[in-house]
Amino acid sequence: MAESLLITGASQLLTLRGSGPRRGSSLSHLDLIEDGALLVRDGVISAVGTRGQVEALPGARSAEKLDLGGRVALPGFVDSHTHLVHAASRAEEYELKIQGASYEEIARKGGGILNSVKKLRAATAEELKKRANVALHQFAAHGTTTVEAKSGYGLDVASELKILKLHKELEAEQQPEIVSTFLGAHVVPEEFRKKADGAKRYIQLLEENLLPAVAERKLAEFCDVFCDRGAFNVQESKRVLQTGRQWGLAPRMHAEQLSRTGATRLAVLLRAASCDHLEHVNASDIRALAKSNTVATLLPGCDFHLGLKKYAPARGLIDGGAFVALATDYNPGTSPTLSMPMILSLACTQLRMTPAEAIAAATINAAYALRREKRIGSLEVGKQADLAVFEVADYREIPYYFGVNHCWMTLKRGRVIHAAQDSRN
Ligand code: NIG
Ligand code: FE
Repeated sequence: MAESLLITGASQLLTLRGSGPRRGSSLSHLDLIEDGALLVRDGVISAVGTRGQVEALPGARSAEKLDLGGRVALPGFVDSHTHLVHAASRAEEYELKIQGASYEEIARKGGGILNSVKKLRAATAEELKKRANVALHQFAAHGTTTVEAKSGYGLDVASELKILKLHKELEAEQQPEIVSTFLGAHVVPEEFRKKADGAKRYIQLLEENLLPAVAERKLAEFCDVFCDRGAFNVQESKRVLQTGRQWGLAPRMHAEQLSRTGATRLAVLLRAASCDHLEHVNASDIRALAKSNTVATLLPGCDFHLGLKKYAPARGLIDGGAFVALATDYNPGTSPTLSMPMILSLACTQLRMTPAEAIAAATINAAYALRREKRIGSLEVGKQADLAVFEVADYREIPYYFGVNHCWMTLKRGRVIHAAQDSRN
């Protein structure tokens, strides 16, 4: 027997249905239904409409009922950029940064990503899994139903595989869905830095050992590169991403975060799924993105956490016609948050996005950045019943309130994966 669920009582149901990923002025189209309802069969949406329309359908009467009590419901957030698996925080570096040290200075002294690599290599898979599981519960508690997760704190064959295998295990355990990305080209690891041609040799290891090991085990869907000052240059990034593609991994990039390198141009050239960060893009980069299907994923949590004044030019990107998405970039060095509502608040106040634009960027456009827009990111017939329900009267209050979690319930494929304490009242 099919399992059916009738969901009613959404004072505002933000469906984001219709036109797929959004650019330009259509980014603010939420397709809101007042007093909205959904019928779900086996985790898939079979009807969307007003309460009257959906309740009148055959099958509605016999379905299990869920009343949202007048709250606001929207597609579960798709967090399309995270470094989920890491061993520990870098709170010690946070203090150094507050005292005036820059992210790059700390990295040059062996802190930064290399600090996290040391800690990850020393950690057992069980320890890492425990930490990632706590994080995944928190993601769900903030309304996120899909999490992209990057490797990149291992940087040798055994440690990268340790991370990527964990993505698989965590995915099988069915909380938020996990999309796995291989980020072997995060930085050149310590043991290669001592050699004169260390970067070249590490890239050789990536091409000859790491990428084949990852691809043969089907442990990742995307290949990412940190293309920036102190990491990999455009030529090196191109090589890694092209080899990744030969192994069946679609490209995505960390681009123009600390400096302008031309990474965005490369992302467009390679038809990357997304290029992320973009604090330092220029007008010609924006034009190139606008003509492409590469999603510009903005990560304002990084600039907030690092105390930087320069945020990505979201208005220029949106008004220029690029696909814009938002993500947390959950990681211990630049963005230790897993709260998409907090990212929406930053997007509104710092990036000057409207609440509606921010919501579309965090749902349907983020789903497109993971090339899953046919299955998730909006509430329409045939798509997964992934839902976030907020204890607010108006969707604009989701970014308006900050620092407090108003997520009341989260559903993944029609199953409740988070319910606030008072959700039975
Ligand atoms: O997305 N920029 C590179 N990677 C991460 C930071 C990783 C770290 O500092 O641990 C980012 O900001
Ligand atoms: Fe990142």
